[in-house]
Amino acid sequence: MKVVEGLKWRYAVKKFDSTRKLTQDQINYVKEAINFIPSSYGLQPYKVLEISDPAIREQLKEAAYGQTQLTDAAHLFVFANFTEFGPDKVDDFINLTSNINDMPKESSEAYRNTLNNMISSMTQQQLSVWTAKQVYIALGSMLAAASELEIDSAAMEGFDKDRFDQILKLKEKGLASAVIGAIGYRSAEDANQFLKKVRKPMDQLFEKV
Ligand SMILES: Cc1cc2nc3c(=O)[nH]c(=O)nc-3n(C[C@H](O)[C@H](O)[C@H](O)COP(=O)(O)O)c2cc1C
Repeated sequence: MKVVEGLKWRYAVKKFDSTRKLTQDQINYVKEAINFIPSSYGLQPYKVLEISDPAIREQLKEAAYGQTQLTDAAHLFVFANFTEFGPDKVDDFINLTSNINDMPKESSEAYRNTLNNMISSMTQQQLSVWTAKQVYIALGSMLAAASELEIDSAAMEGFDKDRFDQILKLKEKGLASAVIGAIGYRSAEDANQFLKKVRKPMDQLFEKV
């Protein structure tokens, strides 16, 4: 499916068919879409956890008010944003950039300083808001890529973030859970699939200036 066709086809799955799995190729395709979407400065200030342990999924379901997508989706991502982004992470990014583009690290000195200055000018709360925003771009890419392959999906932020962070031990890693991306196949019993898509008329959403 083309992008817009896929976005019109997809819907927010409430009930997945837990017996249907995805192939590794399908999962890898969606993961590449998550990785290749851009982020501010290219920093990718987040991690994407893939949760396969059924016991952990069960705990996450409880912390997500019993939403069954957590246990029934074929593949479960939890997008977690960094709450700290120190000079060490900037160094990692500069090193990766120089290695990939075969550039001397010294040529990136000005960029390294720009990034460190930009990051240190934010309070910890501002930093967390900024990193969490980046995660949502990746989530959008996941939704689009899944629909291109006719894989069903659910984006979810209805969960207790503190509980998720505890279960997944995220605080210790300077991370915070932001949003869930569940992919797999819809259950035939999921009534949501029969609803018409509700979107604003184009002339209400867009305004020419
Ligand atoms: C960031 C985000 C968080 C969402 N959180 C939940 C959620 O916790 N539970 C749920 O059932 N649906 C959740 N949804 C689904 C939305 O309600 C749904 O996408 C929206 O109503 C549009 O419907 P559609 O996706 O079927 O086009 C979420 C969607 C997004 C994009």
